[in-house]
Amino acid sequence: MIWMPKHFLTTADCSRDELEKLIYSALHFKQNRDLSQLLAGQSVALVFFNPSLRTRASMQVGIYELGGNSVVLEPGGTSWTLEHRDGVVMDGDKTEHVAEFVRVLGRYCAMIGVRTFAQLKNWEEERTDPVLNAFARYSGVPMVNLESAMHHPCQAMADMMTIRERLGAEPKRVVLTWAWHPKPLPMAVPNSFALAAAQMGHEVVIAHPPGYELDDELMKTAQARSAAAGGRFEVTNDIDAAFDGAEVIYAKSWGAKQFYGATERDVDARAQYRSEWIVDEEKMARTNSAVFMHCLPVRRNVIVTDGVIDSAASVVIDEAENRLHIQKAIMANLV
Ligand code: CP
Repeated sequence: MIWMPKHFLTTADCSRDELEKLIYSALHFKQNRDLSQLLAGQSVALVFFNPSLRTRASMQVGIYELGGNSVVLEPGGTSWTLEHRDGVVMDGDKTEHVAEFVRVLGRYCAMIGVRTFAQLKNWEEERTDPVLNAFARYSGVPMVNLESAMHHPCQAMADMMTIRERLGAEPKRVVLTWAWHPKPLPMAVPNSFALAAAQMGHEVVIAHPPGYELDDELMKTAQARSAAAGGRFEVTNDIDAAFDGAEVIYAKSWGAKQFYGATERDVDARAQYRSEWIVDEEKMARTNSAVFMHCLPVRRNVIVTDGVIDSAASVVIDEAENRLHIQKAIMANLV
């Protein structure tokens, strides 16, 4: 058993040693060397404010394989619309408060997972992860972050596991590159990938165009964890230089902080980057035989060319599979 915080909301709450043990535990699940039924006779609530393929399917399968039962809820769809702010007069369109929703679920379920994306409307508010934190504040049972406004720790740990499987335990030159996408997307995946890679002691390079900086506080945390793990941490606007010698290329698009609430301005600002900020065969040729990674879903020939994602360098399906194993390890240690 690995000691872990009560909730699994961000890898920043875990030590390097705990993250290493999670990967070790996930590898045991993957090799069928751990047949624990730690959820036997218990249920886990999975609350989805947003769509999902991998997270939903892998959580449901993982809960089943641990002997448990999953209860999937979609606020505003198959369950009531939810208010998360404290002290509000609920005379608008929200029917139920998180205060009751979460505590009721805690009477039925051993654990709660929640997915609640950034709406890209108000940066200062959304960077505090208000919905996730409201759930965690009221929950008496362990919670798993299934992607919030700021973090996607299950994805990041599946990614760290995939790097470990493919490239071994030694630190690698790991490049997180922004890529053009027709619309702004949340920052949870790049935040969590950068943070976890820093915690694991990798040489982390983040490449993005000017104006697409990640959150200042998160960057400071990642830099501190990188230094503590003996790694290196660098941010650049030069995509070609970033690819030089890379052993991992992790592509992801995200929106600019200054354009939260002004989508069209972000769309206009990013138009100039379309042809340059894509992962293609030419850029991959600059790397040190890097593996190509993406959390999926991915837009082909927008973020990455067919030639790269269909090449032997691509590990995107392994990453998706590893979501199942790492989440079983996380749930087995939380319950
Ligand atoms: N990577 C990921 O979280 O996929 P889904 O959005 O399909 O769950």
